[in-house]
Amino acid sequence: MSKKLRAPLSLNVQDGDLWSYLSALWNDEGAKVALATALAACLSLTQGVGLLLLLPLLQLVGFNTGQEASTSVTHYASTAFAFIGLPLTLVTVLGVYVVIMTIYFLLTRWQNNLSYTIQLDFATKLRQKLYRAIVSTNWLFFTRNRASAFTHALTAEVDRVSYGTQQLFQGLAGVLVLVAYVVVALLLSAVTTAAVVLCGIVLIFGLKNKISVSREKGKALSADMRGLYGAVTEHLDGMKTVKSYGAQERNMARFSGLNARVMNDYVGYVRNINSTQLLVNVGSIVILAGALIALIDVLHLPGATALVLLYLFFQIIPQFNSLQLSYQAVINMLPSFGNVLDIKTRCDAEAERTIARPRQVTLQRRVELRDVSFSYAADSQSGVQHANLKVDAGKMTAIVGSSGAGKSTLADLIMGLIEPQEGAVLIDDVPLDAERLHAWRECIGYVAQETFLFNDTVRANLLWAYPDATDDELRAGLHLAAADDFVEQLPDGMETVLGDRGVRLSGGERQRLALARALVRKPSVLILDEATSSLDSENERRIQGAIEALHGGITIVAITHRLSTIRHADVIYVLEDGRIIETGDWASLTSGGNGRFLELCKAQNALGETEDAGAAPKKAGPSVSPVG
Ligand SMILES: Nc1ncnc2c1ncn2[C@@H]1O[C@H](COP(=O)(O)OP(=O)(O)O)[C@@H](O)[C@H]1O
Ligand SMILES: [Mg+2]
Repeated sequence: MSKKLRAPLSLNVQDGDLWSYLSALWNDEGAKVALATALAACLSLTQGVGLLLLLPLLQLVGFNTGQEASTSVTHYASTAFAFIGLPLTLVTVLGVYVVIMTIYFLLTRWQNNLSYTIQLDFATKLRQKLYRAIVSTNWLFFTRNRASAFTHALTAEVDRVSYGTQQLFQGLAGVLVLVAYVVVALLLSAVTTAAVVLCGIVLIFGLKNKISVSREKGKALSADMRGLYGAVTEHLDGMKTVKSYGAQERNMARFSGLNARVMNDYVGYVRNINSTQLLVNVGSIVILAGALIALIDVLHLPGATALVLLYLFFQIIPQFNSLQLSYQAVINMLPSFGNVLDIKTRCDAEAERTIARPRQVTLQRRVELRDVSFSYAADSQSGVQHANLKVDAGKMTAIVGSSGAGKSTLADLIMGLIEPQEGAVLIDDVPLDAERLHAWRECIGYVAQETFLFNDTVRANLLWAYPDATDDELRAGLHLAAADDFVEQLPDGMETVLGDRGVRLSGGERQRLALARALVRKPSVLILDEATSSLDSENERRIQGAIEALHGGITIVAITHRLSTIRHADVIYVLEDGRIIETGDWASLTSGGNGRFLELCKAQNALGETEDAGAAPKKAGPSVSPVG
C-alpha cells in the first residue's frame, strides 16, 4: 500500500463568504450586473404578461371561467386590447402572445449574452489581478510558496469562480421568473399560491445541512486540487529522474491517490446535489398534490382558472429545484473565490514597494555591501553576516565558497531582491532604496545556473530582455556570448522556436543564449551565479572565454564554487558559513603558505592548472587581506 499522502500546502484553503464575493462582483461589474438584473426583471414582466394572456385565450376557446379573479384579468386584457385598437379575438390574442413571447426570447438571449460576458470578464479581471499580485510580491515571499499553488489559483480556482458566477446569474433569472409565476398565481388564487410558496420555502430551508455539505465539498476540492497540481508540477519537472529510476509506477500511485481524492470530492458533491434533488422532487410532488386537492375539492375553482393555476404550479415547482442547484453551485464555488482572494491578499501584503517617482541609476564607480547581514529566518544563521564587499565598475569580482556558503544570497542582496536586515547596499555610495530599485534592476544582466528560456523564437527570447534592441545589437550579444555560430546553424536561425524550457538546445547552448540575453541589455553589472557550473568542461571553456573577453569592458560579478574559472578575477571574496573570510586576487590568495582559499584550491586541484585558460591579461589586484 502506498503511504498516506500529504500535500504540503504553504497556504491554507480559505472559506470564502458570499458577501465578499458579491461585493467583488459588484465592484468589478456593477453596471453590467445592474443591467442583467434589470433584464431579468423585464423577462419576469414579459413572462407574467404572457401568462396572464392565457386566461382570455382559454375563455375565447370556450372554457368556462366566471371566477372573480380570472374575469377581472380578462377585463383588463380587453381594456388593454381596446386601448391599442384591437378586438379581443383568438387571432389577436394569439398574435399579441407571439409578440410578447418573442420579446421574452430576445430578452433571454440578451440576458444570457450579458451574463456570460459578466462571468468571463469577472474571471479574467480576477485572474489578472491575482497574476499582478503574484509577480509584485517580494522575492523571499515568492520562494517560500509552492509555485503550483499559484498555478492552481490562477487556473482551476478562477475557472470555478467563473462557473459559479454563471450559476449565480442563472439563479437570478430563475428567481425573477419564479416571481412572475407566483404573482400571476397569486392573482388567481392567493391562498393556494401562498401555501405552495410557503411550503417551497420551508422545503428549501430544510436543506440547510445539504447546502453546508456543498460548501465543505467545495473546500475539500480546492485543497485536493491544489495538492494534485503540486504533484503534477513536481512529477513533470522531475520526469528525467523519475524515468531514470524506473519509478513511473510509484509516481503513478502517488498521482492516482491524489486524483482519487479529487474524484471523491466531486462524487460527494454530486451525490449531495442528487439527494437534495430527490428531496425537492418528492416534496414538490406532495405540495402539488395538496394544491390540487385544495383547488378542486376545497375551493371549487372554475375550469380555466384551475387549469392555468395547475400550469403555473407545474412551472413553479421545478424552478425551486433549479434554484437550489444554482445556489449549491455558488456555495460550492465560494471556497475557490476565498482561496484566490486569500492568496491575492497575502501577495499584496508582501508586495515590493512601488514608487511613484522612481529615480534613475547609473553605475559609475562601485557597488558596495557595507556590513550587510541577512538571515532567512529570525532563529537561524543561514544567509550572510556582516559582509563587506566592493564591486568596482569595469572589474571582475568573484565570490567563491562551498555550496550553502551564502553566495546566491549575496547576489540577491546586490540585485535588491532581498533587503539587508543590517547594513546597506550602496550604488556609488548612495543607498539602494525603493526609489532606485527598479532602475537598478534594469542595469543588471543576470545569468543563473538554471536558465529559463521562453517557448518562443531565439529573437523573442533576446528581445524580452531588451525590447528596443536592434538586429545588430542582438547579433552583437550573440557574438559576445559565443552563441552566434550555433544560432546560425539552427534551422531558422534567430527565428527558430525553442521548445518548452529550451529543451532542443544543449545545456551549454542554452547557457550561452542566456548570457547573450543578459548582454543584449548592455548591463552595468553582469551577475553570473554558477552560470557555468552545470556545464561540461568544453562548454565551460567556451563561456569562460566569452566572459574573459568581456573582462575589462563590463562590471562582472562571477559567483562559483569552481575555483579554476575565476583565475583572472580582479578581486576574489571567499565566503564560508555566511561570512567573508578572505579577499584578494588569485596570486595573493594562493601565494601564502596557508589560507582557506589555498586549501580549497588544493582540494579542487585548481592550482595545478596552467595559465592557458584565457587570453585575458593578468591584472594587478589588491593584495591579500584576511577578513575577520
Ligand atoms: N529562500 C530561502 N529560504 C530559506 N533559507 C534559504 C533560502 N535560500 C537559501 N537559504 C539558506 O541560506 C544559506 C545560503 O544559501 P545560498 O546563498 O543559496 O548558498 P550558495 O549560493 O552559496 O550555495 C543556505 O544555508 C541555504 O539553505
Ligand atoms: Mg547558489
